[in-house]
Amino acid sequence: METLRRTNTDQELPRFSEHTRAIASEGAAGWAIADAAADAVDRGEDVVSLCLGDTSFDTPTRVSEAAIQSIRGGRTHYAPVPGTPGLRRNIAAAQKRFDGRDWSAAQAIVFGGAQNALFAALMTVAGAGDEVLCLEPWYATYEAAIRAGGAVARPVKLSLQNARQKISEDILRAAVGDRTRAILLNSPNNPGGYVFGKEDLETVARFAERHNLWIISDEVYRSTIFDGEFLSVTSIPGMTERTIIVNSLSKSHAMTGWRLGWTLGPVSASVHLENLAQCMLFGSPTFIQDAAAVALDEAGDEEMRFFASELKRRRDLMCARLSEIPQLKFARPGGGMFCFVDVSATGLPGTEFVERLYSTERLAIVPGVAFGPDMKNFIRISFSGADSVIESGMARLKRFCAKS
Ligand SMILES: Cc1ncc(COP(=O)(O)O)c(C=O)c1O
Repeated sequence: METLRRTNTDQELPRFSEHTRAIASEGAAGWAIADAAADAVDRGEDVVSLCLGDTSFDTPTRVSEAAIQSIRGGRTHYAPVPGTPGLRRNIAAAQKRFDGRDWSAAQAIVFGGAQNALFAALMTVAGAGDEVLCLEPWYATYEAAIRAGGAVARPVKLSLQNARQKISEDILRAAVGDRTRAILLNSPNNPGGYVFGKEDLETVARFAERHNLWIISDEVYRSTIFDGEFLSVTSIPGMTERTIIVNSLSKSHAMTGWRLGWTLGPVSASVHLENLAQCMLFGSPTFIQDAAAVALDEAGDEEMRFFASELKRRRDLMCARLSEIPQLKFARPGGGMFCFVDVSATGLPGTEFVERLYSTERLAIVPGVAFGPDMKNFIRISFSGADSVIESGMARLKRFCAKS
């Protein structure tokens, strides 16, 4: 008995790996409130969560039906590791409809959502001791995904205002080093909602060429763009050769729970990405890929446009309500699913603001610190929910601010 108990104590357990311990970042901790709120909702408590970028829209019925038909048709066996030929073809074709360029199925590798694709892409280009340039504010999982491969994120210090106007050569130069391997781009950006223009992307492209860097372009919000047009860095001459696009059906097609994403890049990178997919995933579920192939057809483009127009309306609703609260400062997001709000005028740092808001008003949102070390005075609020959820959340926020 005594021996058994002793072998179960912490001190005597083998150590956890450095990689695993290194991924416990502020970004990872940022989800704690989202998890707590989801549990509370599950228990039937009166909690409103505006944490996640997960729309209230249902996946289009024809896509769900395709999955059901696929299961009924016995498509429940291993799929080819890089993805089914049909889905890879449709990923390339959908991209071509989008940007008019020629993409081949061989350039697409299927993963378990953009998160998994991002992890694989980062692992492919940056290893132990390497560095990845990350524009701050960045998406909450970036830092951990970079660290998991043994590399580190080098913040490129943008203020929200600058980010709207320009990525300058100076700020990139200030962050680059001998071990820099890649630039991680995200436009429209989560959490800031800013969208990079041609000049920004040309600056990044020239810089990547000069320093021989990869570009990882996270384009999961490219369809949810409200003002202006989306431009990918791959539209700049020479950039398809050094860019790995990461994308998924989560945001564009209301398919977060299907966990279906991909990389699209030069065939030289696809070879390594396929090796990674083999040892970590061994293929995504066949029936999900069959449904994804349907989502990516031309009718899917129409559904995608409808979701984007609804989200634009929700963005306007949230911005209208936020502007009724004098202590809050925010820039109107040009794309994505979030308002990123400066709460300094309330006198509370973002994390404390979020904790108090949750305990007094039962409204859950994400603290800015999850999106980079300089974002301590911010909070992120999602407008992906239904109007009634947004209204209820904004009423709670207004009441909280009135009292603080
Ligand atoms: C910027 C960004 N990249 C990647 C992801 C991951 O998306 P997926 O659901 O496809 O894994 C998200 C999800 O919120 C995101 O906001």
